[in-house]
Amino acid sequence: MEGMQSHPLLRIVYSSVAVHPFGRQELLDLLDVARRNNAALDVTGMLLYRRQRFMQLLEGPRDNVESLYDRIEADPRHTSCRVLLSELAEKREFESWSMGFEDLDSLSPPDVPGLSDYLERSFDSDFFQREPSAALLLLNLFKVRV
Ligand SMILES: Cc1cc2nc3c(=O)[nH]c(=O)nc-3n(C[C@H](O)[C@H](O)[C@H](O)COP(=O)(O)O)c2cc1C
Repeated sequence: MEGMQSHPLLRIVYSSVAVHPFGRQELLDLLDVARRNNAALDVTGMLLYRRQRFMQLLEGPRDNVESLYDRIEADPRHTSCRVLLSELAEKREFESWSMGFEDLDSLSPPDVPGLSDYLERSFDSDFFQREPSAALLLLNLFKVRV
């Protein structure tokens, strides 16, 4: 039955380096655009910012995620985009978030249990490339906070 077929989603996690430190308002402006566009594209996800680095998860219909990622990668506000994870999935991790967000620079580490292990690492470190499950875990830590 055509209607019963499941269409696999594409999930991408990447890290990047902002060309300058982003202030609160700059991040909120970026999110505003992201949330509006992503809702229209049926894309959900999570964006983390810390010490001039981004880590972002994008998931949704394959074509939409691929073209969105190409657009984001070309954004001159950041460089060194590095795909940490790219996988097809049946189910979303961030169903309820057109784009969740956390500015880790404004957190006190004890706020989030388990976070300190990851805070030692830069988002663009080899560690997250080698251990994409750790990147997923980190992103998931912020689900409850948004
Ligand atoms: C780190 C980072 C993450 C971004 N994430 C998204 C996103 O999830 N969705 C989105 O539409 N734009 C995102 N953008 C912005 C895009 O690069 C681009 O500026 C925007 O999609 C253009 O939208 P507009 O044509 O509606 O102005 C992001 C940019 C950066 C630097």
